[in-house]
Amino acid sequence: MPAASQGIICRVESMLILSKTARVFSKPPKSNIFGLLRSFSVCPRRLFCHKLVLGIETSCDDTAAAVVDEAGHVLGEAMHSQTEVHLKTGGIVPPVAQQLHRENIQRIVEETLSASRVSPQDLSAIATTIKPGLALSLGVGLSFSLQLVNRFKRPFIPIHHMEAHALTIRLTNEVEFPFLVLLISGGHCLLALVRGVSDFLLLGKSLDIAPGDMLDKVARRLSLIKHPEYSTMSGGKAIEHLAKQGNRFHFTINPPMQNAKNCDFSFTGLQHVINKLITRKEKEEGIEEGQILSSAADIAAVVQHTTARHLAMRTYRAILFCKQKDLLPPANAVLVVSGGVASNLYIRRALEIVADATQCTLLCPPPRLCTDNGVMIAWNGIERLRAGLGILHDVEDIRYEPKCPLGVDISKEVAEAAIKVPRLKMTI
Ligand code: KG4
Ligand code: ZN
Repeated sequence: MPAASQGIICRVESMLILSKTARVFSKPPKSNIFGLLRSFSVCPRRLFCHKLVLGIETSCDDTAAAVVDEAGHVLGEAMHSQTEVHLKTGGIVPPVAQQLHRENIQRIVEETLSASRVSPQDLSAIATTIKPGLALSLGVGLSFSLQLVNRFKRPFIPIHHMEAHALTIRLTNEVEFPFLVLLISGGHCLLALVRGVSDFLLLGKSLDIAPGDMLDKVARRLSLIKHPEYSTMSGGKAIEHLAKQGNRFHFTINPPMQNAKNCDFSFTGLQHVINKLITRKEKEEGIEEGQILSSAADIAAVVQHTTARHLAMRTYRAILFCKQKDLLPPANAVLVVSGGVASNLYIRRALEIVADATQCTLLCPPPRLCTDNGVMIAWNGIERLRAGLGILHDVEDIRYEPKCPLGVDISKEVAEAAIKVPRLKMTI
């Protein structure tokens, strides 16, 4: 067993011994049941919520962990973000991400367990993202988790990263199946109908890059990293902030794929159009590539608006399709938007306009649960435990899968329906 996991195991065991010792020596206050339980190092909630899951996430550039109980309480969480390192290298370098996961995973899991006041023996299961994602990153989380699983003889629940994003809303809101979900992040872009914990119909996805990736590239091309205000923000967040000072009407750009009556997405074309616009503006303003344009805020505003319109029109069609096929109720259907890009308030507003036009309710997890986190993985573990789905006691053959589609792909059927989307006034 590698030294790193030996370390956590020794420390966790000494935590356990300490907590058992506390049980013997502490004097419980008589009148307060919660105080009494606390003095025993037992979380009161654990009396009533038997299921506790440790979730571990390392699919991309965040090392994250959390312990969540059956009622959705987050007992403890910790996270190490690599964003600043990758901003400096102009994108994620997989071996660098792997190394940073290796350096941080033990500390993050230890911090999570100690904040939760939970020992590995208390866990009902360990849930870890094993697909899809960067191979080198997934590998770190999986091998670390398997060491814990084998050492403490806990069940293992392999997690699909996108399933976890989709189900997060059921931790924060009372949402019944089915509901429609739009997942928009740096690595993914898809529309799916969620019929159950692991029952998804894929309506459409990006044919090239994801919207977060495109916004990250535009932010780099605009050299926003050199601007002190934006230098530590992800590209998407920097674009959102800068766009507030810009005027989108200074440029006219059509949303991608307007003539394709399906629910797929594309962002590479938009990225090229924006790149050309930036090059033209650099010439007009007489500045070198790498300097910040005076029209940067207007460019940020137009790329954000065009992205929002594209996402909104595809989502509108997906809702109409689901209603036409009786996959969603005619009124009060739920549209969930999650993933890193869903923390963008301008994009949320565009989707709210679609929800209003289709009598749907738009729900988004809070921003900290939209981006990658350990809570969503632990919660997905709770959902799977409750449904009795994918709980492994033998982890011999478990492998990570860098590429893995979500659910049953019905995007051809969606395209064949060729639903025309009414015009929507997008005044945001
Ligand atoms: O879900 P996430 O944390 O990681 C994965 O890609 O799975 O999403 C990160 C992406 C990045 O591309 C980042 O630029 C984008 O989400 N993002 C945003 C905002 N905050 C993060 N995009 C637009 N507006 C934001 N406020
Ligand atoms: Zn994600």
